[in-house]
Amino acid sequence: MCGIVGYVGTREAVPILMESLGKLEYRGYDSAGIAVIGGDRIVVRKTQGRLDRLAGLLDGGAPSGTIGIGHTRWATHGKPSDINAHPHLDCKGDLAVVHNGIIENYLNLREELETRGHRFTSETDTETLPHLIEDNYNYNGDLEEAVRRSLEEARGSYAIAVLSRREPDKLVVARKNSPLIIGIGDGESFVASDIPAVLGFTKKVLILDDDEFAVITRDGVRVFTIDRKPVSKELLDVTWDPVLAEKGGYEHFMLKEIHEQPRAVRDTLSERISADGQDIVLNELGISREEINGIRKVFMVACGTAYHACLVGRQVVRKLARIPVEAELASEFRYSDPMVGEHDLTVVVSQSGETADTLAALREAKAKGSRVVAITNVMASSVAREAHDVIYTWAGPEIAVASTKAYISQLVCMYLLGIFLGRKRGIMPDDVTSSLVRDLKQLPLHIDTLFGRHEEDVKALAEKFKKCEDIFFIGRGLDYAVAMEGSLKLKEVSYIRAEAYAAGELKHGTLALIVEGVPVFALATQMDVYEKMVSNIKEVKARGAMVIALAYDDNEDIHRVADYVIRIPRTNDLLSPVLSVVPLQLFAYYAARARGCDVDKPRNLAKSVTVE
Ligand code: AGP
Repeated sequence: MCGIVGYVGTREAVPILMESLGKLEYRGYDSAGIAVIGGDRIVVRKTQGRLDRLAGLLDGGAPSGTIGIGHTRWATHGKPSDINAHPHLDCKGDLAVVHNGIIENYLNLREELETRGHRFTSETDTETLPHLIEDNYNYNGDLEEAVRRSLEEARGSYAIAVLSRREPDKLVVARKNSPLIIGIGDGESFVASDIPAVLGFTKKVLILDDDEFAVITRDGVRVFTIDRKPVSKELLDVTWDPVLAEKGGYEHFMLKEIHEQPRAVRDTLSERISADGQDIVLNELGISREEINGIRKVFMVACGTAYHACLVGRQVVRKLARIPVEAELASEFRYSDPMVGEHDLTVVVSQSGETADTLAALREAKAKGSRVVAITNVMASSVAREAHDVIYTWAGPEIAVASTKAYISQLVCMYLLGIFLGRKRGIMPDDVTSSLVRDLKQLPLHIDTLFGRHEEDVKALAEKFKKCEDIFFIGRGLDYAVAMEGSLKLKEVSYIRAEAYAAGELKHGTLALIVEGVPVFALATQMDVYEKMVSNIKEVKARGAMVIALAYDDNEDIHRVADYVIRIPRTNDLLSPVLSVVPLQLFAYYAARARGCDVDKPRNLAKSVTVE
């Protein structure tokens, strides 16, 4: 999704804007631009393509100035092009605007503005904003008021930053349903869509809420509601280490983040295991025993990989707490008039905490009286702020578009939630709990051994199958949930058509697609359905499939039915997803690399999907 940055201070703005934009690259974009107030005019440089192309333009003479804005665009309205790239200007070049989100009534606004004489140059919805502000500005001569009035007229979602040549010392920013943060330095401030973009400059951050706007000068930041009431905001001390957001010697963020998983699991567990190591502590959940006993149903709602974590969570919570659980895609849930109410618990899962559909689902559940627990990776994100309770995944910043360490940490939170609910409902005995907690604590070590033993083998497999057009993933129970994540990972980074099926469903249709030589990943870690799974493997083998089985170390017969076996350390079957997904992530990564794909920034995808 688009990324916004801004700077007001005493240093040259361009290098700061470019560094911050670099930190937002992971969100996915197709063009980039900056605007700086230099002397008495606004200088804009923008281009289709990556940031290095913009840097090339700036090499020929970067505009000098200490206040500026920048943008990476992910096209929604109007194709990727130099003209459609942001910033956009008003008719006279007095105002520059960068925008994330969608102005839904832009066609009407544009028509009205054109009849009033405004000249548009791009196909974007965004360009209505500088013209609208220009109109209001001409009318009252006050930039803050002009922005505020314009936002009252514009419908949709936005995070914007506005510069005016006529008030060259101030930046006006605003948000509605699209994230925006302000980093506070000494005599300088930084604006960004996301915290990692300012971490190199400051760790003090102020999060703008929906329907708020801020006026930023060298003297400080003033925040108002859209109806101009002053708001006093809390400063957040960000504890993330900026180094974690760098590649640290790895060729890609995705590979680095896969390797960070042992630490992510350890950090997500730490502080949440009781001092005697026998139980879990989840102080962040303010739900009473009575409320828990009164829960009718748990709804788990999310998108993409986070939804796949819900598919695991559904089985985990059902099993440990014996409560009915439904897992739903947020984009479906929000429009389905869901039968959720005050006796239900809604768990929304989102790495970024800003996914538009997930946020809308959260609001829908809340409006219907449900208590909402968020599982998210980003402190003070919208999801975190709007939920009743938050369980943070301590995965650290995840930069690659393909989610890996956040997924694994979401799984850990599902186990914590399941144990917590099961204990409070009095159905998890001490010995079962302590044994599961012991196994949970072993997971980081187990993941480490996977890298040591198997990475080269998985890489060789990826090399072997890199030219395949189709790859299938099959499994039963939790293995099926992981198969879905394995196939999503592969398709999103390598563009190989990858599909996951419940192994028991093969003969109801999918078997027709299994032909000579097609690779099938067969996950076989669920011992209660192991023999059934072996039969399914034989079914695909009989049709000529090349089977890559994923099984425990001590499984002694799987090699008889599979062509290749990837082994994972033996653990409690309930916890196996945390281990079995790792070779699948590595396979996706190495297949994508071998095919020459842009691993961290796959085509058409964005890290944080803040529009519908
Ligand atoms: C993961 O690899 C994907 N890029 C994507 O499915 C992602 O999980 C989804 O967009 C949800 O994002 P969120 O966790 O930030 O809400």
